[in-house]
Amino acid sequence: MDTNVRPETMKRITTKELADAFIEEQVRLVREQVGDKKVLLALSGGVDSSVVAALLIKAIGKQLVCVHVNHGLMRKGESEGVIDLFQNGLDANLVYIDATDRFLDKLAGVAEPEKKRKIIGEEFVRVFEEESSKLEGISFLAQGTIYPDIIESKGVKAHHNVGGLPEDFKFEGLVEPVKLLFKDEVRVVGRALGLPAAMVDRQPFPGPGLGVRCTGAITRDRLHALREADAILREEFDKAGLTTQVWQFFTVVPDIKTTGVKDGKRLDSWPVIIRAVNTVDAMHCSVPRIDWEVLETITNRILAEVDGVCRVCYDLSPKPIATIEWE
Ligand code: XMP
Repeated sequence: MDTNVRPETMKRITTKELADAFIEEQVRLVREQVGDKKVLLALSGGVDSSVVAALLIKAIGKQLVCVHVNHGLMRKGESEGVIDLFQNGLDANLVYIDATDRFLDKLAGVAEPEKKRKIIGEEFVRVFEEESSKLEGISFLAQGTIYPDIIESKGVKAHHNVGGLPEDFKFEGLVEPVKLLFKDEVRVVGRALGLPAAMVDRQPFPGPGLGVRCTGAITRDRLHALREADAILREEFDKAGLTTQVWQFFTVVPDIKTTGVKDGKRLDSWPVIIRAVNTVDAMHCSVPRIDWEVLETITNRILAEVDGVCRVCYDLSPKPIATIEWE
């Protein structure tokens, strides 16, 4: 039997009862698979790896070692949220690595989008590999692989959810407890495990993080402006009840300067772009008609609170022709 094929008889997990039964079964299987050995998990804070972490903590507790790599391109408060939930809340065995300087130094002066993505992906693997080689007695690697990952990688020799682990990375085996589930099912399981709504319903966030929203060559000051503007946007969307109504939303700070004026003096500052989209499949997107007052509040807050910004724009472009991310 191919364990990477979802049996036709497998019920879709739509209720807490079905999720509880799934969790119970997986807890049993994981314990059977790993015995008293240790398991390593790259915990990004995304839905899939978070649900796998919570499930494995339930199954094997401290035998799970979670590694959270902060590449310096996380949103405001994101790494702190992962630490707070998993280390303080769920008492996980969590290794936190702040690799901000390493990533930003590598990215300095690199403007080409695909090159930036490649550097971030490769550096991630390197950091993860270095840190996990310092850990002793790890036998298994856990991954937040979900069914669409398997379907999409059919024909490709090996699927690497972590972004391409090197071949000489030797483990006794992989632990992939949600690999036959679709995203909505993973969310139901996450809820049944008691994960907070903010984590379970989290919108997609690209692996390269804010790196693809700080267009061109990333600088620390522009990245800071982007992170602060993004936090304001999220806060105001939350207040306006839009977080659950809009599929994905974020800010972009492009690598351009625009003219402003303050106290009679000329400014050369960045514009902040607000991007919001609704979609079913991420292939075709429309732009929601956000209430004008909400947009005004966000604009006024960004202009008052974020240094180096003098203009705020709302991106009205559908996909296609514009992609969701700016690069
Ligand atoms: P685009 O920009 O292609 O985005 O319309 C479609 C969806 O994919 C996300 N995205 C990424 N996710 N690595 C990721 O893990 C990436 O490099 C990447 N680029 C885009 C994007 O946020 C959107 O949800």
